[in-house]
Amino acid sequence: MKTPKKKTPLDKKNRETWSGRFEEPVSKLVQRYTASVGFDQRLAEYDIQGSSAHAQMLAASGIINAKDLAKIEKGLRQIRKEIVNGTFDWLLELEDVHLNIEKRLTTLVGDAGKRLHTARSRNDQIATDVRLYMRASIDNIIQLITAMQLSILDLAEENVNTVMPGLTHLQIAQPISFGHHLMAYFEMLKRDKDRLSDCRKRVNILPLGAAALAGTSYPINRKMVAKELGFDDICKNSLDAVSDRDFAIEFCACSALVMTHLSRLSEELILWMSPLFGFIQLDDRFCTGSSIMPQKKNPDVPELVRGKTGRVNGNLIALLTLMKAQPLAYNKDNQEDKEPLFDTVDTLSETLRIYADMLKGVHVDIDAMRSAAMRGYSTATDLADYLTKKGVPFRDSHETVAKAVRAAEKKGCDLSEFTLSELQKFSQLIEKDIFSILTLDGSMKSRNHTGGTAPSQVRKAIKSARKDLS
Ligand code: ARG
Repeated sequence: MKTPKKKTPLDKKNRETWSGRFEEPVSKLVQRYTASVGFDQRLAEYDIQGSSAHAQMLAASGIINAKDLAKIEKGLRQIRKEIVNGTFDWLLELEDVHLNIEKRLTTLVGDAGKRLHTARSRNDQIATDVRLYMRASIDNIIQLITAMQLSILDLAEENVNTVMPGLTHLQIAQPISFGHHLMAYFEMLKRDKDRLSDCRKRVNILPLGAAALAGTSYPINRKMVAKELGFDDICKNSLDAVSDRDFAIEFCACSALVMTHLSRLSEELILWMSPLFGFIQLDDRFCTGSSIMPQKKNPDVPELVRGKTGRVNGNLIALLTLMKAQPLAYNKDNQEDKEPLFDTVDTLSETLRIYADMLKGVHVDIDAMRSAAMRGYSTATDLADYLTKKGVPFRDSHETVAKAVRAAEKKGCDLSEFTLSELQKFSQLIEKDIFSILTLDGSMKSRNHTGGTAPSQVRKAIKSARKDLS
């Protein structure tokens, strides 16, 4: 025979929201397993904003009276204060941020607090909270990207005339301006911001009013709530409103791309800082030493950015997987969207913050970059172009120059170190003017069109980028 379990006061509290339906409390283990308050309390401010807008609408629509509204507003203000001061008592037994706040409200203002949840469900409530949180996060991240772009512009500006070897296949390809190289990242980040702004449009739509899944029989005014909370529109289907998290997935995809770009830059900083390259130094505050090898200075921060990109990519996959097999409408699975989402926001924000600062501490060894560019026959294409401009079909010029490079390799010199008569052995069309073309600066200057590496073009690009940001 089953002996009915004695209910403890806590169990009773836990059951209050739906106690009538249940005969026994959840076990402690299940309570811990199902609770989200440990992490969703970070949504508290948005939950309060959403509740306040909802209550105002309920009052304006005659669903609650003005007195109740006043009490709810007062109670919510008090709760906000308690949360900010750190005196709010978050209870695991109350499962999530919504029930914790609602319970406290009821303690503070009595029945008015109990009326707040009229015409609303936690399903549309959480969807609203997450969207408000994401909107604020996106706005903040866009600002952080802009700050990093400004650091890129400063470093690029200092290095418009700094020659470095441009690489393909990590092999020396053509001389480029280091400023030009950096501006490539500016462009990537610009697209990242565009993507985030576009994602924001789909984030900024109000789900509230969808209630549990089907809408509500109360005469609500969703447009009023949307306006109060700064949403651009309202969700057009109640099932969709409570169940899909595509906007969060999209945000994680945008974030994964930002991190991927930062990871590539990190990879480059790491390579450049290796004594094997010796192109840059990073300020000590971004590096650590080795406990065993006294000579080491390790680029820990860029390495961690590269590493953390893995976890942000992982968060995207987590959310996609979370969503893929859910039938409509809301399922508790969706509670699992928070931690990957929060982790993405935190990781990306911190990374951007640190990067904006770190780029200010990049010190360039101009001579090391230049001599690396000298080593790999990086002006070979210029010699081929020179011949082609004199009428030789490009494929033939290519072949001629390939032979010249082989000869230079044998001799252990650069193409520019051949004498004129040595060069003329490869082609009679070569004249004295070739020497200005075979220099690194000459090569760089000749790529003089929008998007090219000529310093004058890089300067233009930087100028227009600055204008873009202002
Ligand atoms: N904590 C829940 C979440 O994050 C809130 C919604 C719960 N709704 C429900 N019907 N259990 O998704």
